[in-house]
Amino acid sequence: MSDFLVIGSGIAGLSFAIKAAEHGSVTIITKGKLLESNTAWAQGGISAVLPPGLRDPSDTCEKHVADTLDAGGGLCHEEAVKIIIEEAAETIDELVAWGTDFDQDEDDPERYSLCKEGGHSERRILHSKDTTGREIATSLVETARKTKNITILEDHYAIDLITTGKLGAITDDRILGAYVLDIKKNKVGVIESPRVILATGGCGKTYLYTTNPDSSTGDGLAMSWRAGASIANMEFIQFHPTCFYNPAATGPEARSFLVSEAVRGEGAVLVNEEGHQFVNDHDPRGSLAPRDIVARAIDTEIKRTGAPCVFLDVSPLGDEFTERFPFIHETLLGFGHNALEKPIPVVPAAHYQCGGVVTDLDGRTSIRGLFAIGEVACTGLHGANRLASNSLLEANVMARRALAHILLRFPPGRPIPDAPEIPKWESGNAAPPDELVNIYHAWDELRRTMQDYVSIVRTDNRLRRAANRMQNLRREVRDFYWGHTVTPDILELRNLVATASLIIDSAVLRKESRGSHHTLDYPKKVKRFEKDTVMRRF
Ligand code: FAD
Ligand code: SIN
Repeated sequence: MSDFLVIGSGIAGLSFAIKAAEHGSVTIITKGKLLESNTAWAQGGISAVLPPGLRDPSDTCEKHVADTLDAGGGLCHEEAVKIIIEEAAETIDELVAWGTDFDQDEDDPERYSLCKEGGHSERRILHSKDTTGREIATSLVETARKTKNITILEDHYAIDLITTGKLGAITDDRILGAYVLDIKKNKVGVIESPRVILATGGCGKTYLYTTNPDSSTGDGLAMSWRAGASIANMEFIQFHPTCFYNPAATGPEARSFLVSEAVRGEGAVLVNEEGHQFVNDHDPRGSLAPRDIVARAIDTEIKRTGAPCVFLDVSPLGDEFTERFPFIHETLLGFGHNALEKPIPVVPAAHYQCGGVVTDLDGRTSIRGLFAIGEVACTGLHGANRLASNSLLEANVMARRALAHILLRFPPGRPIPDAPEIPKWESGNAAPPDELVNIYHAWDELRRTMQDYVSIVRTDNRLRRAANRMQNLRREVRDFYWGHTVTPDILELRNLVATASLIIDSAVLRKESRGSHHTLDYPKKVKRFEKDTVMRRF
């Protein structure tokens, strides 16, 4: 029994664990290695309005709030936006205290260097060159490793949450722990805890083309759904406009390499084959409009011209490109593309889950003792489309707020009511080798279906097709899952099917276009849909 069970080792899980360890025992489980997370891949930075004296006086929290609300298409919860943005300076202090090194301003070493991204009206993004996520993740991992009271279990896959409700209780639904697969030993055990912090990140892998690493398979979302938690706004999958287009790609890294929005923030522009800045035809902010607008403009341009991609022209940056974005430049060179000689071919790719497990501003879900923080959660900050660089911020702020709430209401040491006995995990038979082919085929079919039918521009017809295919996949996956020994592949497929189904069902319900959900059948915003799409399994 651990006082806290933290599932996931990105910025959300590690921020929580490091602080919680001052108050009780913490077990962190992560399905790969500690540094395998979206957090470690973040490039652009973390948005923050710093205290006066450390920022340009023209920027204010009110402006950051206004930009976030504008990007969110009318669905942000204003209170969430204000609270999270006002806590940004504390987040920066905390990350710096844990060892994160943000770039300093060259002219004034007392200040941080601040950059801009789409939808921001001011320069307010702190960064560490173009590998901000790696810098943050490394400092958090090193701090967590040194912190007493934390047990770290790598290669441990959370399969399902255990709640009193799932064990048959009628009047009391609270968390008891999780079934966890020890991947190395190939054994499933129970980790008990009355406080489970879900920090499992997003679900980019539901799509064929994504900027996300392999770990983003919607596990936390699917587990919460199965456990009966409320889920909201899953139709809002944000596509990042500038993923490197690499038809010669042989591996997943080559197909999913992000070219940060910060490159546009420093002056790069999107152009078509004729060199025309086509995004200007869609929005006066051009290449720096919010992501949903830019991604849709690219999609329209690709369909209009029949070209497979558009281009990011970095020539306005001159030498600054290699100085400010060395990782992007080197990685592109490794793929055989020199951005200094030719504009970078780019396409939009699935990037961020704006919805998720519904929480309040203390990270509480609808199941007692289960908290969700980071990308897996839906706090109301992002609405229908996240403002760039707001997610690292949200994850750290919500970790702090969830812990503060727990310490006030349910601190370690307080007696816990009796609960039904947790049954042991029952294993099925080993999967015969030919079944593996079926699993990989199903995985591929799922991701292609989502890419083709539930992408940047949707229609009722496409969504219906996707729903039909997902019904079949759900049946197949049920057969793989029951009756076979569980493997990470089967588990991820099961979670991807659940997540994709939630995306499709939510998209079907929203008969309008707003933020990252755009449908040709209902191309306008509709007042009566100015509300969250909430799903709950009864
Ligand atoms: P993650 O960092 O994704 O961590 C999730 C963890 O949960 C991982 O360790 C994973 O292995 C683990 N996990 C998942 N399922 C299980 C399971 N079943 N059992 C055990 N462990 C599990 N945001 C910004 O604000 N600024 C940026 O500049 C930025 N750039 C980005 C660039 C890229 C390429 C990408 C992909 C995203 C970027 N984002 C950025 C988004 C941001 O990185 C993420 O939203 C954020 O890092 C999410 O943090 P998290 O802690 O919630 O989840
Ligand atoms: C980027 O660097 O473009 C990603 C920023 C983000 O997703 O917030």
